[in-house]
Amino acid sequence: MTDQAVKSAPRLLVIGGGYSGQRFARALLDQGATVWLTRRNGIPETPDGEGLHWLSFDASQGLIPALPEQLSHVLVTIPPNGEGRDDALEHLLGDLRRQPLDWLGYLSTTGVYGNSGGDWVDEGSPTTATLPRSQARLRCEQAWLNSGLPVQSFRLPAIYGPGRCPFEQLRQGSARLTHKPGQVFCRIHVDDIVGALMHCIALPPNARPTVVNVSDDAPCPSSETLGFAAHLLNLKLPAYRRFADIAPELSPMALSFWEDNRRVSNRLLCQGLGYPLRYPSYREGFTASLREEQSRSNVA
Ligand SMILES: NC(=O)c1ccc[n+]([C@@H]2O[C@H](COP(=O)([O-])OP(=O)(O)OC[C@H]3O[C@@H](n4cnc5c(N)ncnc54)[C@H](OP(=O)(O)O)[C@@H]3O)[C@@H](O)[C@H]2O)c1
Repeated sequence: MTDQAVKSAPRLLVIGGGYSGQRFARALLDQGATVWLTRRNGIPETPDGEGLHWLSFDASQGLIPALPEQLSHVLVTIPPNGEGRDDALEHLLGDLRRQPLDWLGYLSTTGVYGNSGGDWVDEGSPTTATLPRSQARLRCEQAWLNSGLPVQSFRLPAIYGPGRCPFEQLRQGSARLTHKPGQVFCRIHVDDIVGALMHCIALPPNARPTVVNVSDDAPCPSSETLGFAAHLLNLKLPAYRRFADIAPELSPMALSFWEDNRRVSNRLLCQGLGYPLRYPSYREGFTASLREEQSRSNVA
């Protein structure tokens, strides 16, 4: 992250202070920003002086916050709701339009590309999603892009990082080693999401592409990443199972993750915009995540 990323003490609102939202919020806080985050319920008690201000936002419960004034940056991390609509767009857009925004980042998914049969996709590829949740996501993303706000949409594959690696499943013996011929998955370390967002904020507004893929350099089968995680923990891998054999046991949601097969190009982000990935593959990313998890549990 560069000092340039945060010019004059930004005022940031994160709509959806979950895993990625909090990581981004803390990074901007460290750079001197004033930060608000929303959550649906269970507003966390943050230690005095930590500097994170929490707001309740849950349209289904009628909880619509009055937004702080003079916001310069907004990050939207909430997915489409159960009806496929975006609660932030429906309930906060009017208030957001009154703000002097420099930038609004929207976290989308690479699911909008649909199934490319394992081929590479980039930001110019057709968005041929067939899964209902990916079609809803595409509609919400397009609505944000058409909102008249200074929106950049970041299309993300599977997000991992500390607390979101397969270490616990391996320790507990619940990890599955599944092989589906030709199937790959893409992923991104949460700190590279944060880094890519900071990198884009630091660009002049007219140099910020409206859609950017944020994916690492190493699409590969999930059996490969699980093998590396087991190696790091010095644990045995579970027995290999063929996808065709376990498919009948999977929930519709779990099955849907195996439906799309694509390799997501990061050429625009890494070559076009010059963002250097901190974790080009799961190898560096899992190693750093395990180290962070271990140092947290040593402190606790
Ligand atoms: N996880 C992945 O592997 C992955 C992959 C690609 C894209 N994405 C997308 O990237 C974004 C960030 O992912 P993440 O894993 O960081 O998300 P996350 O940890 O699940 O956080 C999402 C946040 O949004 C809030 N939220 C969700 N639905 C809401 C609604 N209808 N109204 C108000 N608030 C709502 C949640 O509130 P609570 O804290 O109260 O629950 C939470 O704070 C999401 O849109 C996700 O779908 C995720």
